[in-house]
Amino acid sequence: MVIRLNSAGWEGVDAYRVDVEVELVRQGLPAFSMVGLAEAAVREARDRVFAALRAGQFRLPPARITVNLAPAGRRKSGTAYDLPLALGLLMASGQLPPDCLADAYVAGELSLSGAVRPVSGVLPLAILARRTGARCCIVPPANGQEAAVVEGMTVYAPQTLAQCVAFLQGETRLEPVAPVSGNMASGEDAAYGDYAEVKGQLAAKRALEVAAAGGHNLLMIGPPGSGKTMLAQRLPTILPPLSFEEALEVTTIYSVAGRLRDGGGLVRSRPFRSPHHTVSEVALVGGGIHPRPGEVSLAHRGVLFLDELPEYGKASLEALRQPLEDGVVSIARASQSVTFPADCMLVAAMNPCPCGYYGDPQHTCTCRPEQRARYRARLSGPLLDRIDVHVEVPAVPYEDLRRTQAGESSADMAQRVAAARQRQQARFAGTPVRCNAGLSGALLERHCAPDAEGDALLRTAVHNLGLSARAYTRILRLARTIADLDDCADLRGEHLAEAISLRVLDRPAD
Ligand SMILES: Nc1ncnc2c1ncn2[C@@H]1O[C@H](COP(=O)(O)OP(=O)(O)O)[C@@H](O)[C@H]1O
Ligand SMILES: [Mg+2]
Repeated sequence: MVIRLNSAGWEGVDAYRVDVEVELVRQGLPAFSMVGLAEAAVREARDRVFAALRAGQFRLPPARITVNLAPAGRRKSGTAYDLPLALGLLMASGQLPPDCLADAYVAGELSLSGAVRPVSGVLPLAILARRTGARCCIVPPANGQEAAVVEGMTVYAPQTLAQCVAFLQGETRLEPVAPVSGNMASGEDAAYGDYAEVKGQLAAKRALEVAAAGGHNLLMIGPPGSGKTMLAQRLPTILPPLSFEEALEVTTIYSVAGRLRDGGGLVRSRPFRSPHHTVSEVALVGGGIHPRPGEVSLAHRGVLFLDELPEYGKASLEALRQPLEDGVVSIARASQSVTFPADCMLVAAMNPCPCGYYGDPQHTCTCRPEQRARYRARLSGPLLDRIDVHVEVPAVPYEDLRRTQAGESSADMAQRVAAARQRQQARFAGTPVRCNAGLSGALLERHCAPDAEGDALLRTAVHNLGLSARAYTRILRLARTIADLDDCADLRGEHLAEAISLRVLDRPAD
């Protein structure tokens, strides 16, 4: 008799159905074979499954056992097939009704003692289960909450193989997992702080507000200790809350990456990722033999913070260009091509020079001009090109530090950001563009025409500062965001003037 169970295989952030087929023939010499492009971890399932069966006091008759993972042409990896395989063997040997899992999807790793251990990718499996009309999922306890995120799906999360079998035989009850609401469960949780804690730095806070309002990437330049890291970390607190759809996207990425906290449900806070500058290209943009999402995907719908930008490897920064442009990472493999979402805001910080004190009134810079030039030249031009806002973050003056009254709070800033985003939503309805940072071409022409005063101001700036055509379009779309914050349909002189001031690197270096 051939038994068939539903499980899943994973490609990027999507799951596809994998049929775990088990055939048990009580003739000939006992043997076990597994086919269907199973990789090492999957083939080792045999040893884990047999040990777990022994631990649960289950016995298999001597038989020739063949396991097939269909579609046989797609590569299977990971340990999620342990539990379906164990159940399949029990069904094939008559210890469980052969059809008891017909409308279920099953995944889980087994320990030698029969405990059901966590696997990655359970949320996409549950989404697949709903799409194909299945009624329930049987998953590891640590992954129960993520599966329960899917509406209308009954999720069972047995602790052990024996408990699962007793449940399927109708001997014990197993309560379906009840989804927790209001759960925040990204890898690092949301202790983001508040902008009220930042003293002074009004210009930098304004720049961050503009960046958040239009989804613009941003670079902060300033001496050590001026608060750049502090400012960046608080950016998620002024971005609009994740919509349900966005939260589902983010949670799916964390699920596939195996980064959800044990027992965590939907990720409700905007991600903030700050990989160290020694990060490898693969860790930053994703990849590997079994392609995994990188930091830029873990930051999807949130913030990717690169501190000390010039210290990052050239290859890593170059690799970021395409995701920042497209909002997705494409990883090409000989056998397949995988894409991961990667729509994040980039925030970068750097010192003005290697010693950090160039332009600081309190300290003397010890760098030679050519050292400074070399330091700046390490920023890749094309990456810089993706960054609309660059501001200086000078050291906090003593008077500001002494000030005891709180600065403007994140809540107030978030309110203005949300209003500006609403204006953009209305403007871009029916187009693929989501916020002003995505404006280019005809759309830019249409929505970013300056009025007469703005036109005159821009003309002078282009002449006097020697602005390039590229800088010109960046200024226009920034001005659009500033006007949106101002609830103004026109691009006025003041909007353009502020936009120009938010791009310090356009000015000739000295
Ligand atoms: N504007 C500020 N207001 C309040 N505290 C600040 C400010 N700037 C710096 N600090 C303090 O100094 C510490 C270091 O700041 P940090 O953000 O790491 O600076 P940077 O990244 O520019 O080197 C912060 O943790 C904070 O305690
Ligand atoms: Mg810092």
